[in-house]
Amino acid sequence: MSSIYAIILAGGRGERVGAGEPKQFLDLAGRPVIAWSVETFASVEGLAGMVLVGPKDMLARMESIAARYGRNLVCAVTPGGPTRQGSSWNGLSALPYERDDIVLIHDAARPFIARETIFECVEEARAHGAAAVYVRATDTVAEGSDGFVRAIPSRESLYYAQTPQCFRHWLIREAHIRARESGIDSATDDVRLALDAGHRVRIVPGESRNIKITTAFDLAVARSYAEGIEPEGEGGSPNA
Ligand code: CTP
Ligand code: MG
Repeated sequence: MSSIYAIILAGGRGERVGAGEPKQFLDLAGRPVIAWSVETFASVEGLAGMVLVGPKDMLARMESIAARYGRNLVCAVTPGGPTRQGSSWNGLSALPYERDDIVLIHDAARPFIARETIFECVEEARAHGAAAVYVRATDTVAEGSDGFVRAIPSRESLYYAQTPQCFRHWLIREAHIRARESGIDSATDDVRLALDAGHRVRIVPGESRNIKITTAFDLAVARSYAEGIEPEGEGGSPNA
């Protein structure tokens, strides 16, 4: 029987938010941004463990977040790499995983992931080897270069990528190795690497509340939303 692990990526610096410290540590209604997803994953029934990937000079802080919010499920706190891809690789190398284990790779900058979405991701990754969360594009998306619009792809087929992205460990490990061998070191998501390695990736429908805090405005939105809700990891059964 394969085990399920979550890898929470918090190795970035949050430069676009432009606060005094990386966004994963900023306060969100009384707890750090990263604590929200750590608590939600820690409350997922059947989770074998969690890996936190953090800035290499801030691991003590990561350890204390693990102790406070991780419900004894954090098995490793690991330094991040120079890019998200590098941090993801470090998370994928942090434990003695079995080939068929399921890994959920999640951005710490997405505090509002729902437990149901995590369950669905795991089920789809079990069935298909790879699955990730997407929402349909609501804005028209344009392709441009040199300051001019070049194309308007049909919105019907466009999605915005969210996380978690979920894989059999062997599949995403091999995809990372293959990417590095071909000189790719800064992919912004793991699905890209799985696709390049020839795998099919199942689409799991996400929710618009699962935003990524990228800018100061996103942080303000997240704060006002967080004030009005209970964190998912607080009490309640998985089906609540
Ligand atoms: N991330 C990471 N290691 C990196 C870069 C990013 O683990 N070297 C993580 C971030 O901590 C975040 C997620 O990947 O949870 C998504 O990245 P992004 O939104 O780009 O976060 P930052 O890189 O921190 O922000 P910015 O690009 O604005 O500096
Ligand atoms: Mg970044």
